[in-house]
Amino acid sequence: MRTAASLVCSMAVLFALAPGAWGQARPAAPKAAPKAAPAAAAKVDYAARFAGLCAACHGANGRSDLANTPVLAGQPSLYAATQLFLFREGRRSNEAMTAVAKTLTDDDLRGFSDYIGTLPAVAAPPAATPADAARMAKGRALADQYKCVFCHGAELAGGQQVPRIAGQHEDYLRESLRGFHSGKRPGYTQAMVAAVSQIPVEDLDLLAYYAARFPGK
Ligand code: HEC
Ligand code: HEC
Repeated sequence: MRTAASLVCSMAVLFALAPGAWGQARPAAPKAAPKAAPAAAAKVDYAARFAGLCAACHGANGRSDLANTPVLAGQPSLYAATQLFLFREGRRSNEAMTAVAKTLTDDDLRGFSDYIGTLPAVAAPPAATPADAARMAKGRALADQYKCVFCHGAELAGGQQVPRIAGQHEDYLRESLRGFHSGKRPGYTQAMVAAVSQIPVEDLDLLAYYAARFPGK
């Protein structure tokens, strides 16, 4: 799906900001072209590597059930690639994830994010307690008021470099939003810091509550 943000931040801008993250899409630079054989890289089985290296935390189908560990199922591959790149370069930091990302080559960034892009969204398991209707209504109003839907889409499903937030774990969403708000998580671009820096933290927490319970598509 194409969201407004994918128009705002064109692919060209993204690639320009992260030279080397996607060797394939880099503007032609014949002399600097890496010598690695793409044919050999393409044979690496990233489904198997994901099962071995990532599934323990993120879940075999990409739906994690550990605290503060994001669901990857349904994330656009470009978004996954930007985040793996940020972890590897030390621009987004988390003890568990940084350690893994540091070991990844450029081919791995592409291979894992392409694989993540093939994982269909997985609905959250039925909640023990029904969603609070008043909080859901307030969350929906805030998502309109603060234009979250403008970039994340009416279904909050994201697209391109914009993540899916529908059905993401509430604890992780809350921490992420607070991280953008405080500047602890600067983001790949300034989009999120700019979007949330003026929003009261109580509203961010309500948005996390809402998005985590929003079924999406
Ligand atoms: C030891 C647990 C652990 C392992 C193993 C792990 N991750 Fe993570 N991953 C995390 C945590 C925790 C976060 C959230 C970090 C944060 O809050 O900033 C994360 C974040 C991510 C994100 C960003 C998601 C988002 O919504 O922003 C991606 C993409 C990702 N991991 C991919 C991978 C891949 C690919 C592998 C295997 C090569 C992997 N992870 C292995 C724990 C892990
Ligand atoms: C101008 C476009 C734009 C707007 C408006 C916007 N976002 Fe985002 N959002 C993004 C992009 C792009 C990212 C990826 C972050 C990065 O750059 O690293 C993101 C990331 C996120 C994340 C992190 C998800 C993850 O998996 O780690 C959350 C949560 C989020 N946005 C929620 C919101 C909410 C709630 C609002 C409304 C208050 C909002 N966004 C408004 C573009 C936008």
